[in-house]
This record gives sequence, C-alpha cells and structure tokens, in this order.
Amino acid sequence: MRGKLIVCDGSNGAGKSTVLEHIKDHLNSKNIEFISTREPGGTEVGEKIREILLDKSYSNMCSTTELMLFAAARAQHIHEKILPALEKGIHVISDRFESATVSFQQYGRGLPSQIVDQLNDLALGDFRPDMTIVLDLDPVVGLERVRSRGEGLDRMEEVDIEFLERARQGYLEQAKSYPERFTVIDATQSLENVVEEALATIDKQI
Ligand SMILES: Nc1ncnc2c1ncn2[C@@H]1O[C@H](COP(=O)(O)OP(=O)(O)OP(=O)(O)O)[C@@H](O)[C@H]1O
Ligand SMILES: [Mg+2]
Repeated sequence: MRGKLIVCDGSNGAGKSTVLEHIKDHLNSKNIEFISTREPGGTEVGEKIREILLDKSYSNMCSTTELMLFAAARAQHIHEKILPALEKGIHVISDRFESATVSFQQYGRGLPSQIVDQLNDLALGDFRPDMTIVLDLDPVVGLERVRSRGEGLDRMEEVDIEFLERARQGYLEQAKSYPERFTVIDATQSLENVVEEALATIDKQI
C-alpha cells in the first residue's frame, strides 16, 4: 500500500514543530513506518536553498525569486525523497509544504494565483498531500511565541503583521476550498488539546 503525505502547516510560531514531535512519538508507539521532513529543505539541495531563503542579509530578495526558490526546493524534495518513500509504503510527515507557498507568496506577497499554481504544479505535477493540518493562530501571538523561544527571527519572520495576517487568511481560504484534504486546528488552545486534535486527524489518515 502506498504511504501518505501528512503536512503540518500554519502561521509562524503556531506550534508546528512541537506538534510534529508528538505526532512522531505517536506513530513510533504504533510501530508505523514513516519519515519526517521539512520545507523549505528536506534534501541536501533543498537545505542549501533554505539557507538562502531564511538568510536575513538577503532583505532585497524579490517575491518572484523567493517563489521560484521555494518551488525549486520542493521539486527536489518530492522527486528525491517523498515519492520514493510513499512508493515503498512509508508515510511522510512534513513541517510545511505547498500550502505555505500559496499562503505566503500568493496571499502574503500578492503574487498571482495562476503563477503560484503553475510553480506548485511544475514541482509536484498533480500530486498533493493527503492531509494538511493547519494550526491557526493570530500572527501576533505566533511571533510572541517565536520570540519567547529565544532564537531570533529569520528572513521570513521579519515581516510586517499585515503580511502575516494575509498569509493566515490564505491558509483558511485553502482549507475552505479543499475541506477533504485540510483540517484547521485552533492553535490558541492548550498544547494538550492541539495535540489531541492533531492525533485524531492522523489516526483517520493512517
Ligand atoms: N498550544 C500552545 N500553547 C502555548 N505555547 C505553545 C503551543 N504550541 C507551541 N507552543 C510554544 O510556542 C513556541 C513555538 O512553537 P513551535 O516552535 O513548535 O512553532 P512553529 O510553528 O514550529 O514555529 P516556526 O514557524 O518558527 O517553525 C514554542 O516555544 C512552543 O513550546
Ligand atoms: Mg518550526
């Protein structure tokens, strides 16, 4: 049986990485075979591209360059890592994926939807994740959480609140358009409740 791709996505600081750790523990406890990965990144080439995308010294990077770098990393990710795993029946869980490009580059930066769709199609063909869990949070709260983590902000986090608010709406719009493959979780809840909802979604998929 083919594996499934499950994505955890949402605003900066919404709790994606924390929730993914719980998902990994859950899958391990059930002896389910999976790999975990992230975007941008996930491959050697992709991680190099990630360094460029998150580097604060490139504050002059234009939106089109940014879009194409995300897509380039994604093309490598799907062909080198994700599809081969799924074909072997191994599930893949990813910290962010194509939904982030729709939210940040289309809704956030204002690039045309046809162009963003074309770039996602170029990278992925007609493949899309089986399920995308969106952790929904006011970006002001998300940034506070990121700051309280004490690691400083990267290039994609050093942007204005209006940009992040548009991106948040982008996630909600995608979830409305594709309810069969998106689940929105209110990330203002306690971590315990967020994890419980996320695991219920995982159990329905895997
Ligand atoms: N439901 C929650 N309630 C309160 N704090 C939370 C919750 N979920 C996560 N946190 C805390 O918020 C901070 C950010 O969480 P995390 O790093 O998992 O977010 P993220 O979505 O992966 O962020 P980034 O977008 O930077 O990758 C962490 O310190 C984490 O412990
Ligand atoms: Mg994270």
